Amino acid sequence: MTTGASGAGRGSVRPGPRRERPVIAIDGPAGAGKSTLAAHLARQFGLLNLETGAMYRALALKALDHAVALNDELALLELAARTQIVPEPRPEGNRVLLDGVDVSRRVREADVTAAASQVSVHPRLRQWMVAQQQRMGARGGVVMEGRDIGTVVFPDAEVKIFLDADPEVRGSRRYLQVGPGRTTQEAIVHELKERDARDRNRTESPLRPAEDAVILDSTAMTLEQVLAAAEEIVRRYVEEPGSGPAPAGSQVDPK
Ligand code: DC
Repeated sequence: MTTGASGAGRGSVRPGPRRERPVIAIDGPAGAGKSTLAAHLARQFGLLNLETGAMYRALALKALDHAVALNDELALLELAARTQIVPEPRPEGNRVLLDGVDVSRRVREADVTAAASQVSVHPRLRQWMVAQQQRMGARGGVVMEGRDIGTVVFPDAEVKIFLDADPEVRGSRRYLQVGPGRTTQEAIVHELKERDARDRNRTESPLRPAEDAVILDSTAMTLEQVLAAAEEIVRRYVEEPGSGPAPAGSQVDPK
């Protein structure tokens, strides 16, 4: 088990801005706390918070509503071509608009969650999503959260954080969020492991840290420690954008 943050590969902080404002990439498995972290960093540094998972979820919802098979990539692509998905960052919580309709709550439900994971395995569909995400973040000034932001969408992101945690810990945190009665902790852990396996093992853009991402393992960290460690990583870039890469294996003490 690792705790705290460690720089993998060449370090997390990239030299010289090519965009006027940075792209902060937050990747990691389901339930690691990416959304909370991304929202916090966006608030703290005055950036837009773009949640790419909501885009996969929105398309999955449309597929369910139109009875398009989740394993039929061509049909999904045709559906995508007739679809407008707009993630809308808001201070009070992100929304996602599907063809102009706010589906933010609906896309969090279990059937859409499972469908999004299935939809996201298709390479050409991913390309469609990635192209949109690259357009949205092209001018920088964003915290973009997902699975492949640091590896595929913005391999040149100024800051990359890979937020990880043990599946049992992620499951128990999520259980506390959902509240007892609606499901069991075991069921949540089981579902997280299933999604992990699909996300990590798909051939197109499998979930993995970018070589130059800082890996933040929150298994033994409190939320406050995670937020503080990530803030420190971003602050290093914001205060000294030309400071060059962090030394490989650099540590950020979360305490
Ligand atoms: O982050 P999330 O749980 O809302 O994501 C929903 C699904 O979309 C999840 O199964 C993984 C997938 N996804 C992806 O493959 N790539 C992304 N950049 C974001 C999400």
